[in-house]
Amino acid sequence: MEIFSLYFLLLIFSIFLYFYFLFIHSKSSKNTKNGFRIYPLLGTLPDFLRNRHRFLEWTTGVLAGCHSNTSTFLRPGKVHGVITASPQIVEHMLKTNFENYPKGLRFRTLLEDFLGRGIFNTDGEFWKIQRKTASYEFNTKSLRNFALENVTMELQTRLIPILENAAKNERILDFQDILERFAFDNICKVAFNVDPGCLIGDATSGGEFMQAFEDAATLSSGRFMYAFPGLYKIKKFLNLGSEKKLQNSIATVHEFADKIIRSRMEERAEKTYEDLLSRFIGNGENSPEFLRDIVISFILAGRDTTSSALSWFFWLLSSRSDIEENILMELEIIRRKNRKAIGDTYNFDELREMNYLQAAISEAMRLYPPVPVDTKACKEDDILPDGTFIGKDWFISYNTYAMGRMENIWEKDCCEYKPERWLENGICKQESPFKFPVFHAGPRQCLGKDMAYIQMKSVAASILERFGIDVLLEKGKCPEHLLSLTLRMKGGLPVKVKERIV
Ligand code: HEM
Ligand SMILES: *[C@@H]1O[C@H](CO)[C@@H](O)[C@H](O)[C@H]1NC(C)=O
Ligand SMILES: *[C@@H]1O[C@H](CO)[C@@H](O)[C@H](O)[C@H]1NC(C)=O
Repeated sequence: MEIFSLYFLLLIFSIFLYFYFLFIHSKSSKNTKNGFRIYPLLGTLPDFLRNRHRFLEWTTGVLAGCHSNTSTFLRPGKVHGVITASPQIVEHMLKTNFENYPKGLRFRTLLEDFLGRGIFNTDGEFWKIQRKTASYEFNTKSLRNFALENVTMELQTRLIPILENAAKNERILDFQDILERFAFDNICKVAFNVDPGCLIGDATSGGEFMQAFEDAATLSSGRFMYAFPGLYKIKKFLNLGSEKKLQNSIATVHEFADKIIRSRMEERAEKTYEDLLSRFIGNGENSPEFLRDIVISFILAGRDTTSSALSWFFWLLSSRSDIEENILMELEIIRRKNRKAIGDTYNFDELREMNYLQAAISEAMRLYPPVPVDTKACKEDDILPDGTFIGKDWFISYNTYAMGRMENIWEKDCCEYKPERWLENGICKQESPFKFPVFHAGPRQCLGKDMAYIQMKSVAASILERFGIDVLLEKGKCPEHLLSLTLRMKGGLPVKVKERIV
């Protein structure tokens, strides 16, 4: 009897659900003027599930249509929050009211398995200590020289030869993969003075670790996208599916990081290094686990960001030969002025003179920001500058991808790739970090910005002056992206390269 009544109840409930979803479906027309659609009981969940595979386009569309480009988001399981594309609100959360918007517990817990307590994943005192140590190091002249020398070396002994070879054999390359390998080798050299050699030879070595790192980042960020926020815990507990894969990839990543730290701690007595890790090893107060978290955070910061920016930059250039010509012209003027030949390395001053190139790269990141959405938590109830209420423990995300597509920030032609909008009398201007939060803003602003530009400009200049890049994708169609912690192209960027001069 009891079993029977249970089935009966289930039947009633299913019928209810059926009609409920029918009702939702009938209402799923275009987005309203009022931001995210809120359904009874399920909040934004139905639309979220329908659109999570195209999260960026979906949120951009909604934010462009609503008051002050800001909307409230509700999901069952108490995931409430605000998503914004408004510079005033970005300034409020990242600077003016910084103390009220930490990373927060939800973010930290979801990423803790992967990032531990590294700089990206901490708040309060623990963050402050790391920030202080790292920013001291980033500001030294020695590190900048170190970085440029490592970039130059990686370019001349690995990247350029690979491209020469591919040009000769007319081999198809996945350019995104090559750029990731470059950035990976490079950040390991600069941060830990270790050479993982991912770009050696035919660029297939170190693959297992690279893949594991990528999986760990993608799967960790995938945890934010579950329909029911606690679901991953059950999967993790049962060691199932994506959670099983995640734990395996994290184990591989940890092993690699531990090896770096062990070898460096052994060497500590003998040598003095000028890299980042040595600052943290410093007086020997930090535990090996903590050093490991630092290593992983820096690899994440340095590997995925510049390679993402450059992949989209080269893709954009492939349909804009006029812009490519302008870059080549600027490089030629700089070479002539400094009596240099194609293939010579550029120094700091010459890189600084590349205003047009800087503008072209910044413009690519405006449309395809390497970190497209960034999220904080709200500590206490607050009223945002446009009057929107935000409650304690809600999340708040600013959508950098959407901000690059807002007419009230970038004028009518906001969707057009146009480096000129950055130039003022030939100088690439600094945009307000609240309008252009590609490198974040306020006290937690990206520490690697200058270093990133040095790397990206060196790579772009050396490649473009020597090679023509033929992108083998359908013309005029934007590559699909993967939304991990960073914005990457799904399926990579297949290219053929050819040498410009003979
Ligand atoms: C195009 C390249 C880059 C972009 C677009 C970028 C963007 C960002 C963003 C959006 C954040 C804030 C993340 C958050 O707290 O939620 C950040 C933080 C950070 N970035 Fe970058 N980054 C780039 C390159 C680099 C490089 C090459 C390094 C270093 C080697 C680096 C080191 C850091 C560090 C240490 C932080 C943490 C700052 C803190 O929490 O106090 N970044 N970056
Ligand atoms: C952003 O919000 C403003 C009003 O605050 C509105 O005029 C504008 O159309 C919105 N969208 C875009 C794309 O600018
Ligand atoms: C990075 O560059 C510095 C300075 O030239 C050099 O001493 C160091 O060995 C390089 N690191 C690696 C791993 O190649």
